[in-house]
Amino acid sequence: GTVVLAFSGGLDTSVCVPILKNMYGYDRIVTVAVDVGQPAAEVKMADDKGKLIADKHYTIDAKDAFVKNHVFPAIRANALYEGYPMGTSLARPLIAEEIVKIAKKEGANAIGHGCTGKGNDQLRFDFIFRMHGFDIVAPMREHNMTREWEIDYAEQHGIPIPVKKSTPWSVDENIWSRSIEGGRLEETDYHPPEEIYHWTTSPEAAPNTPELVSITFENGVPVALNGKKMNGIDLIVELNKIAGKHGVGRNDMVEDRVLGLKARENYEHPAATVLIAAHGDLEKLTLSRFELKFKHIVDDQWAELAYMGLVHEPLYHDLNAFINETQKRVSGTVDVQLFKGGLHILGRKSENAIYSQDMVSFDTTTIDQRDAIGFSKYFGLQGRMVWQLQNK
Ligand code: ARG
Ligand code: SIN
Repeated sequence: GTVVLAFSGGLDTSVCVPILKNMYGYDRIVTVAVDVGQPAAEVKMADDKGKLIADKHYTIDAKDAFVKNHVFPAIRANALYEGYPMGTSLARPLIAEEIVKIAKKEGANAIGHGCTGKGNDQLRFDFIFRMHGFDIVAPMREHNMTREWEIDYAEQHGIPIPVKKSTPWSVDENIWSRSIEGGRLEETDYHPPEEIYHWTTSPEAAPNTPELVSITFENGVPVALNGKKMNGIDLIVELNKIAGKHGVGRNDMVEDRVLGLKARENYEHPAATVLIAAHGDLEKLTLSRFELKFKHIVDDQWAELAYMGLVHEPLYHDLNAFINETQKRVSGTVDVQLFKGGLHILGRKSENAIYSQDMVSFDTTTIDQRDAIGFSKYFGLQGRMVWQLQNK
């Protein structure tokens, strides 16, 4: 039968090809690489390698859909899971849907993936594959494979692999974030070597002069950088370069995976860090106090569902409906200074600001301050009464 394999060209998915033939007996392996903004060289490598080792290969450009349908909603939701902007989890449902399309077209019996049985990716993928009624083959998890074993197996079967035993990082990259795991990074007290970072410089090596970027949002999504209108992809790519150069957006954390395992993760996501900070700041100017307070809860729940890849959980749609309604007013421009690994918001403005300088200013008499005397008389009444009872 035919199996369609989610393919990145990395170690796990590469060794899956001979494994699916030799150990599972599939006679036709169709590999699918989905481009969600990994480096062009990596996409090309996956394309070349898929064509070389599989019976048929597809490379699907899904960058546009990724940004529009997954990254933009994440910006609207200020989406952070335990502080991490979740590039990996945002991409998985889209990758899975693209693979399902090919599996249907190719009349596949099953869909294969190279996820381990320890991580989140297996759950995010399986959710979508099962939803569409496919059988799942996951050799790494079914055979308890280790990366050491895989490297040996790849060498024996003439499968070219990008990793060496000395630097066995598992990297997952798309336009929104780059994640690096494995090897010595699994020691929680091991200090990550500079070489794991490709998008960011260290704060020490960053320029000694700060740089200002101004980001314009319309309905909660970024539309211009430094006053220049840009599409989402170009804007994120450009901002990744600028903020990365200033060492902004590194993240070294211990993360709670869905299964409950804690994992040490290293990330870099310069544009995501800047855009989420700027977007959240603009919301403070344009949303009401009650909306802001409630939206924190909504955003947090949104991030948890998106982290799990549960994008068909009805609550996920319910939360999006609320978020999208609020974002109708989140338009304006935020100025952000980047410097030595840090960012500082220097100013913001919006046509929809719920703000009156005239009313709040120390220098105006628009508001008759005497009106507040009556308000103050009732303010905190109950608290004052209890205190007085107790301090008689
Ligand atoms: N722990 C992160 C997540 O679940 C990143 C996983 C990266 N995946 C990988 N195959 N390297 O979102
Ligand atoms: C994996 O275990 O396949 C990668 C890490 C993850 O899914 O969290």
